[in-house]
Amino acid sequence: MDQGRNFEVRDLKLADQGRKNLELAELAMGALMEIRRRFEREKPLSGVRIGLALHVTKETGILVRTLLAGGADVAITGCNPLSTQDDVAAALAEEGVNVWAYKGESREDYYRYIANVIARKPHITIDDGCDLVSEIHKSHRELIPDIICGCEETTTGIIRLKAMERDNALEYPMIAVNDNKTKHLVDNYYGTGQSTIDGILRATNVLVAGKAFVVCGYGSCGKGVSLRARGFGANVIVCETDPFRALQAAYDGFRVMRMQEAAGLGDIFCTVTGNKHVIRLEHMQSMKNGAILANSGHFDIEIDLKSLKEKAASERRVRPSMDEYVLEGRKLFVLGEGRLVNLAAAEGHPSEVMSTSFCGQVLSCEYGVKNRGRLPKRVIQLPGEIDDEIAALQLKVMGIEMDTLTTEQIEYTNSWKEGT
Ligand SMILES: NC(=O)c1ccc[n+]([C@@H]2O[C@H](COP(=O)([O-])OP(=O)(O)OC[C@H]3O[C@@H](n4cnc5c(N)ncnc54)[C@H](O)[C@@H]3O)[C@@H](O)[C@H]2O)c1
Repeated sequence: MDQGRNFEVRDLKLADQGRKNLELAELAMGALMEIRRRFEREKPLSGVRIGLALHVTKETGILVRTLLAGGADVAITGCNPLSTQDDVAAALAEEGVNVWAYKGESREDYYRYIANVIARKPHITIDDGCDLVSEIHKSHRELIPDIICGCEETTTGIIRLKAMERDNALEYPMIAVNDNKTKHLVDNYYGTGQSTIDGILRATNVLVAGKAFVVCGYGSCGKGVSLRARGFGANVIVCETDPFRALQAAYDGFRVMRMQEAAGLGDIFCTVTGNKHVIRLEHMQSMKNGAILANSGHFDIEIDLKSLKEKAASERRVRPSMDEYVLEGRKLFVLGEGRLVNLAAAEGHPSEVMSTSFCGQVLSCEYGVKNRGRLPKRVIQLPGEIDDEIAALQLKVMGIEMDTLTTEQIEYTNSWKEGT
């Protein structure tokens, strides 16, 4: 491990590759780069300390550079022990960024690094999974009066924050970046759809065509994964617990059934629910020999690995992100230790996807600073106009022009008098 006063990364010698990856990311993150150029001129985050717990990838590197361009003082750690790109962490450390992260972090290091970020006394927290917010609320309450707001990147984090809000435990405003229309569409749906399949392919090199591919959860992420698995020629089965979502999956043309039934049919399983123990031992006991199990939900709790480890006759790593378990004479393969397969076994979302999500992050920081002291201590949405501004920026980068409403049309949509 390479350590300095303000960083701890795997190996500084990886920095050159990291810089090349950051360069490629910048090229694909046109919308975020537009905001960065404005931030360089306007410095809207001057004097603001921002602490981040996010997947340390090349795209997050561009987010960090954008926040720095806006005048912020930034400190970052990972939000998942397997998602750091060591070359990017090294390049950021060389640029002078306060960064603590490496791929394969121990639990102790994970929490030690979070503590390092918190020690910088952030005015804004940017989380992916709510760990910073929850640590501050549990153990560093003295910082809360100076915190302007927090921004949360993913569905699981929002669920935890809403639980805090219900318990009257949330003590600073949280902007639900995850709930931006643009984030849900581009990141959860298109991004998770593509990168989850990418992770499964890189881990296994399996042919997806003709396989029974079971998707657990038909939210934005599950819809994206189902769509892309079907595109590869899989026979997709959806398991859901919400009647509306289950109905939607059925009308989208997928077979919908209970997990117990799907367990015996599936060749590839992918959980994307944000929930716990969605694939349990009783399901694994009826799976086929050679079944592949992956998770793309936020935490590694969707597949009950603990029970599998207890009952398996043997366990060995057969490829870098693929572990074989022999259960009652059949081989089951778990990818990326049951952690987000797109980040553990591949590179996460493509840069273009993260550009949209991170436009949401940086504009939320700016919004928080502009409205300092005026935001409620609740989980709040970024105003719709800002969300639309992100979509417009991305369209501009793609060279797409769209129509605008005429004055007559605006008057028509605002009036109730005109009928047939
Ligand atoms: N891999 C990634 O890069 C990535 C990106 C975005 C979000 N996420 C994570 O993916 C997860 C899903 O996100 P989302 O935005 O689709 O959430 P969502 O809440 O819109 O959808 C989750 C769906 O899972 C269903 N579900 C819950 N428990 C279930 C169970 N036991 N069996 C079957 N279905 C069940 C829910 O009814 C819901 O429809 C979250 O953990 C989120 O943080 C991952």
